[in-house]
Amino acid sequence: VLADDRGPALSKPVDLQLDRAHTARIYDYYLGGKDNYEADRVAARAMEQIFPYAAFAARANRAFMHRATRYLAEHGIRQFLDIGTGIPTTPNLHQIAQNVAPEARVVYVDNDPLVLAHARALLVSSPEGRTAYISADATTPEAILRAPQLADTLNLAEPVALSLYAILHFVSDGRDPDAIVRTLMDALPAGSYLVLSHATSDHSSEEVSKAGIDVYHSRGIDFQPRSRDEFSRFFDGLGLIEPGVVGPHRWHPIGGQPPKSLDPQVAFYAGMARK
Ligand SMILES: C[S@@+](CC[C@H](N)C(=O)[O-])C[C@H]1O[C@@H](n2cnc3c(N)ncnc32)[C@H](O)[C@@H]1O
Repeated sequence: VLADDRGPALSKPVDLQLDRAHTARIYDYYLGGKDNYEADRVAARAMEQIFPYAAFAARANRAFMHRATRYLAEHGIRQFLDIGTGIPTTPNLHQIAQNVAPEARVVYVDNDPLVLAHARALLVSSPEGRTAYISADATTPEAILRAPQLADTLNLAEPVALSLYAILHFVSDGRDPDAIVRTLMDALPAGSYLVLSHATSDHSSEEVSKAGIDVYHSRGIDFQPRSRDEFSRFFDGLGLIEPGVVGPHRWHPIGGQPPKSLDPQVAFYAGMARK
């Protein structure tokens, strides 16, 4: 497989590690995509045995990304840094942003070699705008900030929307997710935004929560769902945008507030804040 993160001229082979489950591919399975393999499907089905709404939750999260991106572009944001991008799924973030503002510039970051292999789809920008892809780990935010693709694409003197959709629950406290968010937000000027979504066990029994965590841990994947308070702390020092921390399906919903019964099925929190 040839992959490129800097354009076709710099193609290089990558090991896709098909023998083990990856979160990007499990998520792709839930979204009905084709970029998942046997190990991913086995993991996804194991999770569905415990939490039958996993695909519904993934779709609610993706729909939140759509609405949040549109909101940001409609509120004047023209630069986006999206970490934990996932396998390209139309519409991608840049397509939503550039639909509102064709000049919008987007830098994507992910650590999965399969996302890298598909990065070309993320690099088809509008002619007025620009997109770039950085193959990097979220736990090394300094490396992301130093990447030449970032400097080539974004002007850090102007506001940037930093987004981490459905990724920070894959970074347990031992790997200091607060430091990731802080390091990145510190590099961005006032007027920048932070957008997050995150899995929670707040609506589950201890038994279900533990079984869900085990599906990931038994495959060597770090996973830590967080409570509403733990999630809200990522926004400390920033100004939360209405309606604050809510389920992603409750954040600026189209067509009125969804019924309360959906909260345990989505089992996610989401929020947006301004620096
Ligand atoms: C559940 S998917 C979410 C995709 C997309 N953000 C969305 O919400 O639609 C999580 C993504 O985060 C990526 N990811 C997980 N841990 C990561 C890390 N430490 N560094 C970079 N990317 C990571 C995975 O490869 C995957 O693409």
